[in-house]
Amino acid sequence: MHVALLGGTGDIGEGLALRLARDTDHAVTVGSRDAEKAGDAAGEYETILADHGVKATVEGAENAAAAAAADVAVCCVPAYHLTDTIEAVADDLGDAVLVSPAVGMKSDESGMHYNPPGVGSVTELAAAAAPDGTPVAGAFHNLAAGRLGTLSADLDWDVPIVASDDTAREAVVTLVEDMSGLRPLVAGDLSNAAEIEGLTPLLINLARNNDGMHDLGVKFW
Ligand SMILES: NC(=O)c1ccc[n+]([C@@H]2O[C@H](COP(=O)([O-])OP(=O)(O)OC[C@H]3O[C@@H](n4cnc5c(N)ncnc54)[C@H](OP(=O)(O)O)[C@@H]3O)[C@@H](O)[C@H]2O)c1
Repeated sequence: MHVALLGGTGDIGEGLALRLARDTDHAVTVGSRDAEKAGDAAGEYETILADHGVKATVEGAENAAAAAAADVAVCCVPAYHLTDTIEAVADDLGDAVLVSPAVGMKSDESGMHYNPPGVGSVTELAAAAAPDGTPVAGAFHNLAAGRLGTLSADLDWDVPIVASDDTAREAVVTLVEDMSGLRPLVAGDLSNAAEIEGLTPLLINLARNNDGMHDLGVKFW
């Protein structure tokens, strides 16, 4: 498959790009609002991969061009900018599967709190912004970008996945299976996304309040 990482110049985009390029045969294009920034990030990721003994090609393109080439487009932007980003590439998505890893959170003196939009979850917000009929999945919400992007770190994490249909579910299950140390777990349809997204502020609060805990993920037994 060809995977586009829209806004893949940021933290989760870097981690996914590095792991996909190292562990899988899927083509990876880093997207950005700025084609030059995308190209620079793609070059930096290739350098990191080379430093780890991996010769891999990572392309860079403006978000719409990245989406146009994609079988799977992962929208790696902050939740506040998700709708704008999807609308900007809507004409270019074609039959691609759209994936949202985004989590809406707010913080106060107690810590981080889940802050879902009115439709129930950010994944459902992504589905609402996508053209009718777009296969949509929610995944990668609980991955810590710091550890994901550290190629020397082994992973042992589960990736709960919600999806609008079989096409979206099967595509994301395949991507997750192909990355070392990640196990896909099917969590139902998009209306179950809030339960997954809501775990992310818990992981951050656990990391903040317990010595030695950082870059947490989830593993179900
Ligand atoms: N960081 C994590 O550990 C983590 C883990 C799981 C899930 N997530 C989710 O993944 C998403 C991205 O997180 P992140 O930490 O990678 O974010 P980030 O580094 O803050 O930003 C990612 C990219 O979003 C783009 N962006 C910034 N402002 C924008 C705007 N106004 N309009 C459109 N695009 C904009 C930028 O790309 P360009 O400037 O190149 O366009 C930026 O590089 C979030 O929704 C987050 O909830 C993050």
